[in-house]
Amino acid sequence: MADITTEVLIIGTGPSGAATAALLSSYGIQNMAINRYRWLANTPRAHITNQRTMEVLRDLGRDVEDEAYVFATGQDLMGENIFCESLSGEEIGRMKSWGNHPLSRAEHLMSSPTKMNDLPQTMMEPLLFKTACSRGTQARMSTEYLRHEQDADGVTTTCRDRLTGKDLTIRSKYLIGADGGKSLVAEHAGLPFEGKMGVGGSMNILFRADLSRYVAHRPSVLYWVMQPGADVGGIGMGLVRMVRPWNEWLIVWGYDINGPEPKVTPEFATDVARQLVGDPNLEIELLSASVWTVNNRYATRTSNGRVFCMGDAIHRHPPSNGLGSNTSIQDAFNLAWKLALVLKGQAGERLLESYDAERAPIAKQIVTRANQSIAEFGPIFESLGMGEGVDPEQMQKNLSARSAGTAAAEGQREAIRKAIAFKKYEFDAHGVEMNQRYRSAAIETDGQIEPAFALDADLHYQPTTWPGARLPHAWVYRRDSGAAVSTLDLCGHGRFTLLTGLGGEAWASAATKIAAELGIEITTHIIGPRQSYVDHSGDWARASEIRDNGCLLVRPDHHVCWRAESLSAAPAADLGRVLRKVLAR
Ligand code: FDA
Repeated sequence: MADITTEVLIIGTGPSGAATAALLSSYGIQNMAINRYRWLANTPRAHITNQRTMEVLRDLGRDVEDEAYVFATGQDLMGENIFCESLSGEEIGRMKSWGNHPLSRAEHLMSSPTKMNDLPQTMMEPLLFKTACSRGTQARMSTEYLRHEQDADGVTTTCRDRLTGKDLTIRSKYLIGADGGKSLVAEHAGLPFEGKMGVGGSMNILFRADLSRYVAHRPSVLYWVMQPGADVGGIGMGLVRMVRPWNEWLIVWGYDINGPEPKVTPEFATDVARQLVGDPNLEIELLSASVWTVNNRYATRTSNGRVFCMGDAIHRHPPSNGLGSNTSIQDAFNLAWKLALVLKGQAGERLLESYDAERAPIAKQIVTRANQSIAEFGPIFESLGMGEGVDPEQMQKNLSARSAGTAAAEGQREAIRKAIAFKKYEFDAHGVEMNQRYRSAAIETDGQIEPAFALDADLHYQPTTWPGARLPHAWVYRRDSGAAVSTLDLCGHGRFTLLTGLGGEAWASAATKIAAELGIEITTHIIGPRQSYVDHSGDWARASEIRDNGCLLVRPDHHVCWRAESLSAAPAADLGRVLRKVLAR
């Protein structure tokens, strides 16, 4: 007999574990989350929060989304992305990033009802955790996962209560390994991995100092510092990252992983801070210092039987592109509704296999993308004559050469501009953040061809209702109050949604019939004149890619799982066929 029983046991209360707990509790599923420490993240770590993640928070509730904005640094202060010799030294170039270029801003505004922002992990985790606990999650801190065993009916997990030193067993139907980059759960579940750990060394120096005079006139999250040694290890260049504007900072500085691990003493940390800020008299209040390694590794299978892993447990990569916590929270959004439906008896267990089919390719994609972004600093160093093996004195000369009035210097200036502009693949890659399209048994395309990307798929989000893609956002308007509501707001909250227009009433009746037959909830909306929601601007008609009498079937995670271009001869039969397949019934 186990000491404790629960439906879902979650190991870890980081972004992925806390998000899963919050979602499961919102869907009415009993769950327990454990953490070996007594509290949540104690350093800011992940911070860039993209629109897709904010859509998950919005799905949890407008109160959750709004609270994130209260604590976050807004998008307006995120985006000058400075490259400089030091904060007080010469600026080499800059690029508008994180949706702050006017063209990119327009794409952000058109893509989502939410806003990108900078929310340090020390604030994101408590928000998700509080949401989870207040909605029913049993949280057990100072409780360490040791091992698990699964059988046909469930999983028995052994943990250690670190306050008493005693072991306890927890029986659950499913186990989630959200236990970070050194995941024991993934190891014990025997998940296969590709790639390497420890491909570079890096250190984090967290400190307080008022640096307003160097930065407030060029607001940014990231200030990249090019100094001798800046291209060694780490994330490609020395970094001064804003944690809170403009008095809390995190310096990220690389070291050679093949050499000895540096001891980051307070003296050393102060020296690095003075060097990167460029002020030999700078006084800092050191908050913490630590070393970490750059990883390039992802799981090629994300689950084994009743055990599912997510977050850093399955994708381990540098912070480049700000994908770490975002992807972790999005893993949770993919899995939680599936677990809920299976546990409520509304879906067959095979639905859970789609988690692996849908998220393993994303793990590979983002690990590859983040590591490639490190390599793409190379052309900046080369254009400045700061490549490997150049001695510091020569480096300074090469750097200065760009300010001459010669043709060679003009060529160098152009090379610098190009190399910096190319970094939009790290700092303004809206497509990487928003273009995730799934292929699995939980999607039915009925043979419809996937639309090709008209623009660069890493840089630009391309809305489509092709099954597998996230439902496009468009503002529609409530007929009663006139209030603008996103199409995404019409969906989600753990339920399937059917969207149709005038002439598609038969789809709505079919959805009601099939929902009753299958014992599931399907929300239906007919969008059009004199209906509850009206498409005054025509934006939805343009985005939906179906006729008014067609329909879109949208999963609880906002991904379209099926669409019909127009009214079919047998709507109930079609909808029933698709839902039985998607739900593995
Ligand atoms: P995460 O590691 O956050 O959480 C794991 C959880 O599991 C924790 O609660 C932990 O205590 C718990 N746990 C682990 N083993 C356990 C056990 N045996 N028993 C019980 N509990 C256990 N990303 C980014 O985008 N930008 C950035 O700047 C940074 N910077 C950064 C700095 C440092 C120092 C680190 C360590 C990481 C980053 N990251 C980052 C990465 C980012 O923090 C990361 O992608 C997310 O936190 C991943 O979230 P998870 O929930 O998957 O794991």
